[in-house]
Amino acid sequence: MKKNYLKFVAVLSLLVFLFLQSLYATGGKLPAYAKHGMVTSSSIIASEVGRDVLKSGGNAVDAAVATALTLAVTWPSAGNIGGGGFMIYYSHDGKATAFDFREKAPLAAFEKMYLTPDGKIRNNSNHDGILAVGVPGTVAGLYLAHQKLGRKPWKELVAPAIKLAGKGFPYTWALHRAVTSYYAKIFKKYPSTAKKMLKKSGQVYEPGEIWRQPDLAKTLKRIQKYGRDGFYKGETARKLADFMKKNGGLITGEDLAKYQAVERKPIHGTYRGYDVYSMCPPSSGGVVLVEMLNILEGYNLKEIGWNSALYLHLLTEAMRRAYADRAYYLGDPDFNPDMPLDKLTSKSHAAALRKSIQLFKASQSDSASFSQIYEGDHTTHFSIIDANGNAVSMTFTLERSFGSKIVADGLGFLLNNEMGDFNPIPGVTDSRGHIGTPPNRIAPEKRMLSSMTPTIVAKANKPVLLIGSPGGRTIINTVLQVILNVIDHEMNIAQAVEAGRIHHQWLPDVTSFERWAVSKDTRQLYENMGHKVRIRNYQGSAMGIYIDWKTGLITGAADSRSPDGGVAGF
Ligand code: GLY
Repeated sequence: MKKNYLKFVAVLSLLVFLFLQSLYATGGKLPAYAKHGMVTSSSIIASEVGRDVLKSGGNAVDAAVATALTLAVTWPSAGNIGGGGFMIYYSHDGKATAFDFREKAPLAAFEKMYLTPDGKIRNNSNHDGILAVGVPGTVAGLYLAHQKLGRKPWKELVAPAIKLAGKGFPYTWALHRAVTSYYAKIFKKYPSTAKKMLKKSGQVYEPGEIWRQPDLAKTLKRIQKYGRDGFYKGETARKLADFMKKNGGLITGEDLAKYQAVERKPIHGTYRGYDVYSMCPPSSGGVVLVEMLNILEGYNLKEIGWNSALYLHLLTEAMRRAYADRAYYLGDPDFNPDMPLDKLTSKSHAAALRKSIQLFKASQSDSASFSQIYEGDHTTHFSIIDANGNAVSMTFTLERSFGSKIVADGLGFLLNNEMGDFNPIPGVTDSRGHIGTPPNRIAPEKRMLSSMTPTIVAKANKPVLLIGSPGGRTIINTVLQVILNVIDHEMNIAQAVEAGRIHHQWLPDVTSFERWAVSKDTRQLYENMGHKVRIRNYQGSAMGIYIDWKTGLITGAADSRSPDGGVAGF
């Protein structure tokens, strides 16, 4: 009798603990817990919107639509309807698929469109200004995923974003700080952007003030009513095309009408008995991630020890080799049908590369060969698990923070500057960071190469780890290190997401360490092997969920590197 009573008290305490945990968001080293479903994103408001969709019977894709559209309202630096991205979906019974809604070059784009007659990039125009805008893909991608896999009515899923845009929400400290310290000046260059992002007086909203975006609410209403066509046809498309024409941009009504999101087969690899599903080209994320995992599988990383000098050396050498392959081989699959994806993700390719790695001695990246393109690091990721065990891992972006900083008159959303992810100078590849290799050169309707790495790790046909991050080229290495932290080092999801990380990308031949990631004497040992180090403040902002199928417990973490982020579960 007493034993049963104690058991009852223990179970009750656990349930009360789980309930309390799931009521509020948490970042930091303590994961959030839930029993049924969870969303983690860069905006706690968006996570809660997604959680409410799950709670009211929606599935992971329904929650992804609602979360993504809410992020376009509450996390405008990267959440978007004016950009693009990728979604990995993994069903409760082990089926994986991917949705590609990467932006495209407009029909009028051409290979040397950013170059002066003497072959230099004109005024950074591939990153700045209206010519940097690619044809947006987000609405088409969300709509396609919803048509294929959604359960709740589309209209219901758009409603929370409309409400938040129309009625407003309290401006956050993080938004205030970012806009005050840097962006306000740039926003003032475009009256339509200033109208959205600043007060009528031109001042920045104060933390806690209610921020309303009425034009965005109107655009979202059209998307709610007409679905995909609410963006790519009718009033929205007309206003966008007119704005482009008036301001020297390239995107036309035809570009918008022709845009299609695509369902693709994700990259699949294995790592120490786990299945890894991640994004295929036009993202390089999945290929590079699987290639690095394959190389590292040949070492006992647990025994070598987390962030020891040898561990960092092996990671660096794996990164160097996989990023070199990225630059050489990868681009839009519709324009590069012969990319050797099977070879690049094979165990035999990894074994051959591993043979070229010397223990305790750095290799050299050959700058005469090829290098990396610049990529902005302002992207955003969210992860979702629903009550039936279906999972979504989605990353989307405007490229730089607030994209091109351009809002088309009357539409209320920021446009991307994703054209900067193409190789701008054909044939010019050097150690300063130019890359001119063919797979990622500009062509009409081509998708620019990405590093976004939305990933789902599965075991026995069940999703166990959902992970992704912003961070441009660093994304793939952030995702890699979170996976290693969980699988090799047995960290909980919050520890895995918070732990300090490093980045190497073949060229330039230097490793960046997060400021607090590595001790001084470890750094010394690492440099003694021949590596160069620079320090950066932070790398990425991972949003992870871990599911323990034995206990049924879902744990999640929103990286504390994302100031407005949070987890919401139930
Ligand atoms: N613009 C960042 C990326 O696509 O990876």
